[in-house]
Amino acid sequence: MRILSIETSCDETAVALLEVTGEVNQPEVKILGNTLYSQAKLHEEYGGVYPNLAKREHEKNLPILLQNTLKEAGFDRNYGSIDLIAVTAGPGLEPALWTGITFAEKLGKDWGKPVMPVNHMEGHIFSVLCGGESSAELKLPALALLVSGGHTELVQISELGTYKILGKTLDDAVGEAFDKVARMLGLPYPGGPQISYLAELDRQKNAKSLIDFPRPMIHSKNLDFSFSGLKTAVLYYLKSQGEISDEHKASVARAFEDAVIEVLINKTRKALEQSELDFKTLIVAGGVAANSKLREAVAGLRLEFPELSISFPIKLLATDNAIMIGLAGFIEATLHPEKMNAGPIKAQGNLSFS
Ligand code: KG4
Ligand code: ZN
Repeated sequence: MRILSIETSCDETAVALLEVTGEVNQPEVKILGNTLYSQAKLHEEYGGVYPNLAKREHEKNLPILLQNTLKEAGFDRNYGSIDLIAVTAGPGLEPALWTGITFAEKLGKDWGKPVMPVNHMEGHIFSVLCGGESSAELKLPALALLVSGGHTELVQISELGTYKILGKTLDDAVGEAFDKVARMLGLPYPGGPQISYLAELDRQKNAKSLIDFPRPMIHSKNLDFSFSGLKTAVLYYLKSQGEISDEHKASVARAFEDAVIEVLINKTRKALEQSELDFKTLIVAGGVAANSKLREAVAGLRLEFPELSISFPIKLLATDNAIMIGLAGFIEATLHPEKMNAGPIKAQGNLSFS
């Protein structure tokens, strides 16, 4: 199946053309074309994503990215052999989502092709099926730790397309906490990679962390998370210190990252232990899954759960992209062909797992 996919849920405009064959739980993916434009620099001064600016940029960039993707694939005069258009319908920023949906629906009409709405978070889950570190076969049941700018959740996947949220953040998403703490430290948006870089510098210098931040909800019995208290603890700490050196900032970044990762790992371990399902796979996906320290800590779970297959996306596919949306489109079209062209697609900012 040849799929043109479009992602505009946040501040990345992305278009990809994939050829996907094989089984739904072990697809073979050929990337024919892939383009991505990150607006991060434009949103930097707001310290986060400004929805109407994102929408304007998506509108401007989508036609250019489409042309470039088709050209890269050698399909600029050959869209007739494309079978499906997949587009992110949610969750995300609604003005941004609408841009992609309107564009996809117009394209579908012009080309006479079906359009499939895709859940962005399913896209993150399936990102591990493309060029990952471990076998690309998704063995079920699986547990997914989804960590992004908008989400932090533990999701049970009993069968493909059947999800249950076991726990989620009660306030800030983990990526959001990285971004906010980065801002407090005077670091540019997006903050995750910046914090991670500084934290590593501190680890090279100091064997032990010099600062100790709280690990919110780490001992609670449920699988929910909370990161706003940790963020406030960093804020109060910084207020108490006044002007601090770059080295001191690195120590703060490291202490924050350590606290976040310990909570994520503890809750994931709890989910693996508590469940009646015998999880065969642990998926860790979403933008924060690009974090090296988190990847290292999750890989450490192999010692405790030797039978468990652990899957991360390759770093390029951890943050938002259109390749994962195309893959999710393939899976959705195979499992639920009736959803293609099932009336106008609606942007759903709060779309969750049904
Ligand atoms: O999945 P994503 O690209 O967009 C959303 O769907 O939200 O995730 C973006 C988030 C941002 O908050 C960014 O700071 C975070 O992922 N992020 C990281 C790293 N790379 C991106 N957080 C920690 N460490 C990283 N290396
Ligand atoms: Zn995302």
